[in-house]
Amino acid sequence: MCGIVGYIGNKNTQEILLEGLSKLEYRGYDSAGIAVFTNDGLRVAKAKGRLANLEAKLEGTPLIGSAGIGHTRWATHGKPSDVNSHPHTDESQKFSVVHNGIIENYLELKEEMMREGHTFRSETDTEIVSHLIAREYQGDIVKAVQKAIKYIRGAFALGVLTEYEPEKLVAVRQASPLVIGVGEGENFIGSDIPAILKYTRNVYILEDGEMAVLTKDAVELLTIEGNFIAREMIHVDWDAVTAEKGGYEHFMLKEIHEQPKAYRDTMLGRIDHANHQVVLPELKLSVEQIKNIRNVHIVACGTAYNAGLIGRTVIEQFARIPVENDVASEYRYRSPIITPETLVIVVSQSGETADTLAALREARANGAHVLAITNVVGSSIARDADDVLVTLAGPEIAVASTKAYTSQLIAFYLFGLYLAQVRGTMNKEEVAHVLAAMEALPEQVEAMLGQADPIKTYAEHIAKHKHLFFIGRGQDYAVVQEGSLKLKEISYIHSEAYAAGELKHGTLALIEEGIPVISLVTQESVMEKTVSNIKEVKARGAEVLAISYEEHAAELLKSVDHVITIPKTLPILTAAISVVTLQLLAYYASLALGHDVDKPRNLAKSVTVE
Ligand code: F6R
Repeated sequence: MCGIVGYIGNKNTQEILLEGLSKLEYRGYDSAGIAVFTNDGLRVAKAKGRLANLEAKLEGTPLIGSAGIGHTRWATHGKPSDVNSHPHTDESQKFSVVHNGIIENYLELKEEMMREGHTFRSETDTEIVSHLIAREYQGDIVKAVQKAIKYIRGAFALGVLTEYEPEKLVAVRQASPLVIGVGEGENFIGSDIPAILKYTRNVYILEDGEMAVLTKDAVELLTIEGNFIAREMIHVDWDAVTAEKGGYEHFMLKEIHEQPKAYRDTMLGRIDHANHQVVLPELKLSVEQIKNIRNVHIVACGTAYNAGLIGRTVIEQFARIPVENDVASEYRYRSPIITPETLVIVVSQSGETADTLAALREARANGAHVLAITNVVGSSIARDADDVLVTLAGPEIAVASTKAYTSQLIAFYLFGLYLAQVRGTMNKEEVAHVLAAMEALPEQVEAMLGQADPIKTYAEHIAKHKHLFFIGRGQDYAVVQEGSLKLKEISYIHSEAYAAGELKHGTLALIEEGIPVISLVTQESVMEKTVSNIKEVKARGAEVLAISYEEHAAELLKSVDHVITIPKTLPILTAAISVVTLQLLAYYASLALGHDVDKPRNLAKSVTVE
């Protein structure tokens, strides 16, 4: 995890580094730090906690200079503290390093170097890199970095400066993302494009095993063996403003409200209205390959995993192909049965999640065709997959994922229909019926976003509780798993999501007087059964909220304490509507409790460690 930035040029280095770090704080906010070449040499400032702490520290004593590197940390090795913050320097203080990733063999190297007489200040894996570079330095920083990284194993994106060559900034990438920004008389590095987008739209994306040498007037791309690389520069045409709050109190609320647009954008150009069919020209997957698919594995983490649970019901229902869901961190280690007829779908908003990337590589190594559903074009997952279906949710900044999840659902609906068309499991009328319902979703969500008051009131009520339960059946069960994750993540209220029929097999013992039970009741085929389960918890004293359609409200109110209604759609598409209520519930509960909604404790947006 973590985010890194770097700058070389004549502008205010400190300001540019801090601005870049503010865009990267979603990657971790346990501490932040910068190193700048000043008139007095390489100077470092760092502070535990949010970037604001570092900014406060620098007020009155700014670091003024013409090159620098910066870091925002999500702690992996060593607790959050000033000393464990990056940049790390060697003993001579002449070499400074920022790092995103994990050096797996750092302990081994540390012991070896301690025997050589090196002393280390921090508990981090990164400090070893600054010592290694210092040890290998013989007047050429590029060569020293190349030699040093030969000793290290693991994942790293590095930014390196040395006081001996103040006109150079060196960057290296191995399994952690890194982009190089090209300006006029100035150049940049960043863990992602938004970190440098305010200053330049011209970027190179480094690949694994590559490095860049930046001076203020030039960027040289090399392999880590030292061979020059010619690469086409990418011109980024999206807008930095889309990554701003745009009048909303929090990014999360803004992103919840952006969902109708995300749905439309993700469907745009993928529906052939004249022929009532889905068109996915971006896919390489051939008709023959699709016809031959025997099974599908959907692999992802967290919220993306929860989207995959819906993906399973969609693919099974539309295309009648058996689907398994796997948590990415478990997938590799269970020896999954993969054949060339297995389609593996990896789902990832960021496209950089280390567990998902590792699962993707495992699947490809075993001969599967891998389709990535991701929100980031050019991400590691997008580049490593055989096929990519991009969700067009736009940049998602809040740590709690909302519009990425729902646009993943749209991608699954489209892909499920596409499979069904090719395999002939649905006829034209059936496909047209689903497409019409899908196209109505954005307006339905817009309507519900305008009526959030009952959700807010109920959220303020549950904010007084320490524990609660979510229940549902079928699709609703998959959706409440996401609702429960969202609530835990940002309100810190403990909740569990259960298949409604499963409570009586143990968990019912936890139901006591007044405990809130939130039941999602949209699947009409199992509605009666869910109502029976609601009665079971009511009889044990639970206070029950039902989320359902207007037409069922009066009947449900005979069995529950509160009802919140949502617009009606096809049973298979309900997740794209019902989850919005649960997102708002989590948002308002977190708000009522006074938490930092966009940056919940202990978490980071992009998890690039396994
Ligand atoms: C929760 C959340 C996480 C991510 C997970 C995977 O709101 O955002 O659970 O879904 O870390 O991230 P991506 O989708 O970037 O692979």
